[in-house]
Amino acid sequence: MPGHVMARSGSSEERPSRQINVILRNPEQPVVTQSIPDADLQSTAKAIPQQGVFAEIQKELDQLIGLHHIKDLMYEIYALLQITEMRSEAGLLSNPQVYHMVFKGNPGTGKTTVARIVAKMFQRLGVLSKGHLIEVERADLVGEYIGHTAQKTRDLVKKALGGILFIDEAYSLARGGEKDFGKEAIDTLVKAMEDQKNQFILILAGYSDEMDFFLQCNPGMPSRFPIVIDFPDYTVDQLIQISEGMAKERDYILMPQAILKLKQHLLREKCEGEHAFSNARYVRNVIERSIRSQAVRLLTQFSGSSSPGKLELMTLRQEDLKLDLKEERRL
Ligand SMILES: Nc1ncnc2c1ncn2[C@@H]1O[C@H](COP(=O)(O)OP(=O)(O)OP(=O)(O)O)[C@@H](O)[C@H]1O
Ligand SMILES: [Mg+2]
Repeated sequence: MPGHVMARSGSSEERPSRQINVILRNPEQPVVTQSIPDADLQSTAKAIPQQGVFAEIQKELDQLIGLHHIKDLMYEIYALLQITEMRSEAGLLSNPQVYHMVFKGNPGTGKTTVARIVAKMFQRLGVLSKGHLIEVERADLVGEYIGHTAQKTRDLVKKALGGILFIDEAYSLARGGEKDFGKEAIDTLVKAMEDQKNQFILILAGYSDEMDFFLQCNPGMPSRFPIVIDFPDYTVDQLIQISEGMAKERDYILMPQAILKLKQHLLREKCEGEHAFSNARYVRNVIERSIRSQAVRLLTQFSGSSSPGKLELMTLRQEDLKLDLKEERRL
């Protein structure tokens, strides 16, 4: 995989017009190529192709609420890969990039969802041959006796070749210190990153503080993971937008009173802070539970010969939102 970029199989239509030129955005001083007339500058400030690889990825990213810094980063990586290819065609040096990443954030902030999109983008751009995601945690890597861990870890790396190995709660590998088998897993992973360079991407995920601590404890680690992405907790407004999107995806509509009730509940939940609030997963559980409640309500309401109309079947009312969510918090 010279230069870490393989020739892409897509047609030249997939590449954004060279006339527009992809702009590697620098927030302080945007680099803009000379040939673009002033009037066009605004429209080319973000030269996102209307079709092709990035358009497809863009569509998936657009479905995610917030996460603008991640959307920008994805575009930067895309732009870099395009330019690297053009540079190598022009006989210029193209330094291989390292794409191992650390995702830091609380539960339900979109880490796994984004990892799947990253895998897809790298596959489409020819960086990864398969673009699959293997999601594992400590128990999948760590064995019970000396040598077992290295074998388990190597087997998982093998499975991940051509795709992404995503380790959730990765900090737990350092939990037991020097004598713990977690250390063996880390050493095996580091070795695999050298031996199988560019054949897979490793993403370590976990809570912010724990991941910072984990990286600090392993001096060789930070430089091996040049891309560190924060996944902040969603605001209540973002959670409401996510809920509406989730309802819509399932062909349901949340009534304004239901939205208000959910909003007030989320404000309370987020303020309480007694438990790990699971962000978008929490509202997904709320929506799914409301859908079950609505089904029961409708069956009770229409127990006779009549049946609910289409609008009624789609509507989630205030009373469908059961917000005693101890159950959901555990999920
Ligand atoms: N920004 C977003 N917009 C819309 N839906 C989202 C967003 N972020 C997450 N979700 C949805 O929330 C759910 C949980 O997301 P995901 O599994 O990616 O979170 P996570 O950070 O991996 O959580 P955990 O740390 O617990 O594994 C998924 O159904 C996902 O589609
Ligand atoms: Mg996850």
